[in-house]
Amino acid sequence: MPRRPRQHGPHADPASDPASALRNAQRGERLQRVLADAGVASRRACEALIEEGHVEVNGELVTTLPAWADPAQDTILVDGRPIRREKPDNHYILLNKPARTLTTVEDEPGADRRTVVDLVDHPAAPRLFPVGRLDFETTGLVLLTNDGDLANRLTHPRYGVPKTYRVKVRGRIDPEAVGELEEGSYLADRKGGQTTGASRTSRVELAVLRWDGPDTWLELTLREGRNRQVRRMLSAVGYPVKKLERVAMGPLRLKGVARGSWRVLAAHEVRALRRSAAQAERGRGAPRSSDRRGPVSPKKGPTGRRAGAGGGCSRDRADSATTRDQRGD
Ligand code: URA
Repeated sequence: MPRRPRQHGPHADPASDPASALRNAQRGERLQRVLADAGVASRRACEALIEEGHVEVNGELVTTLPAWADPAQDTILVDGRPIRREKPDNHYILLNKPARTLTTVEDEPGADRRTVVDLVDHPAAPRLFPVGRLDFETTGLVLLTNDGDLANRLTHPRYGVPKTYRVKVRGRIDPEAVGELEEGSYLADRKGGQTTGASRTSRVELAVLRWDGPDTWLELTLREGRNRQVRRMLSAVGYPVKKLERVAMGPLRLKGVARGSWRVLAAHEVRALRRSAAQAERGRGAPRSSDRRGPVSPKKGPTGRRAGAGGGCSRDRADSATTRDQRGD
């Protein structure tokens, strides 16, 4: 005869349900959140699954909320099938990258520049790779992992996980340029060293932080990661970048990690990263239909609307410095 799980809920026998541990908020996270993080369904749909009697924790059928569970310790089943667990041999490291460091595992043959992996003295370092890329001179938050699924969710434009940059530009930025940047800029698309067209970047959140003598400090949040995107967008409106630092990726903040240092992420931070990919994916609107443009020819390409303070250039030629065909976010 199939085993019937004990019931945790309004009809549970109090003798066999001694103030169930699942009602203790100290023991982990809300059960619907644990299920949603494991990719079962949205949090709302998981609440319904629980209340309809589809979910068991450590042999108890859970039908009332709130309930808390620890995904690392508890056996959680949905319709009798275990939910996905964090793999114990996955590693997640946050590094504060210094300038003049390659965001790659190994330099090209014959070159011997420092890489982000060289800076991480951790037993798993030989198996880690950086999630996305920062330019050689860019500083700040780099995540290293061996979890390809999470890396893909954090970098693929489909998920649109926000990345925030603190930027110093040459010149005092004017409101027109701010408006242009917020709306999205046209940047060249390149493949195999050739310009194949131009397309508009998605909207950018931008805050002007302060003037610094003749320069300006900005904070920019992007939801995509084209190669050298921040530098190209700012050059296109006439404000070349002097300093660039990534300060956040989704819910992760750089704060508290000194330049060149690193730390291991806590399990709740990894779960928060996964959640942010799921949320960003749900929250994305339909792409603008006018965003893509055909191949750019020198004569017929889109023309720039303004010459910026620093002798700015037109949108179609602004980013001609693009080099590698990579997802550089
Ligand atoms: N945008 C850039 O231009 N460079 C980086 O390193 C990251 C984002």
